[in-house]
Amino acid sequence: MVKITEITSRSAGSPVTTSGVDLRTAGNRWHLPNLGIGLGLRTPHYLAIQADWPAIDWFEVISENYMDTAGRPLAVLDRVAAHYPVVLHGVSMSIGSTDPLNRDYLSQLKTLATRVRAPWLSDHLCWTGVAGTNAHDLLPMPLTEESMEHCTTRVKQVQDILERTLFLENPSTYAAFTDQTMTEWEFLGRLCEATGCGLMLDVNNIYVSSRNHGFDPQDYLDGVPWDRVVQFHVAGHDDLGTHCIDTHIGPVVDPVWALLGEAWHRAGGASVLLEWDAEIPDLATTHREALKAVEAITAARSEAS
Ligand SMILES: [Fe+2]
Repeated sequence: MVKITEITSRSAGSPVTTSGVDLRTAGNRWHLPNLGIGLGLRTPHYLAIQADWPAIDWFEVISENYMDTAGRPLAVLDRVAAHYPVVLHGVSMSIGSTDPLNRDYLSQLKTLATRVRAPWLSDHLCWTGVAGTNAHDLLPMPLTEESMEHCTTRVKQVQDILERTLFLENPSTYAAFTDQTMTEWEFLGRLCEATGCGLMLDVNNIYVSSRNHGFDPQDYLDGVPWDRVVQFHVAGHDDLGTHCIDTHIGPVVDPVWALLGEAWHRAGGASVLLEWDAEIPDLATTHREALKAVEAITAARSEAS
């Protein structure tokens, strides 16, 4: 059994304050902590992390990679969770699908969250399949009243089963439904209000979707209920000129860092996580990229003052 006190035996990887900005303040209504600047836990970094437990603030794991398994991944996860805060991030809840909720999946998720003492867990506003078929993709929701009613019921059910607040991520989208009656930020804001759920805001996804659909990211930021944001994602994407694809490869572009800086201050501070999921560089390089968040947050503060 792992003792929670072991987590504090490690020094933090990002500064606590810089240029008058307290990087650990948190503005969310649940008083969930700002964990600092974290990384997604990925297999190529397993050995480097366990070699000397480097000063990285926290890790996020893809929940499904550690459910229904008892081998090396889970053993590594247990060790990582003994040294760092670990947050769960899922891709298979399929909150928007019309298929019944997968109660076995939710039960396993609940067990895993307890095992790693996850301060929160998140999944996406999307559907990943229907009629028992898994599309293995995060598909966009119809942003309609009917869909809102459906998601409201489902989020409430999930929170009842998990006995936790659910935090939903805004996805990157490449298509929209012609009969949509509201924007994504309106949809998420209303869903939060109706269910008590929170947000895991991906600022790269805001940027990618804004390019693909032609909206102004500032309009998105103006519509976010900031006291419900507990965490941010940043990531790289492919810019193909006419549209962007959310690849989670490569460094984060400057406009996304700028969005993070502004969003972080609007939220009154929240945990930041870099997603780098393919062509993954070594741990030190990945961490250096994540720590650029500190500059972005500091720069946004100077611009605001
Ligand atoms: Fe994300």
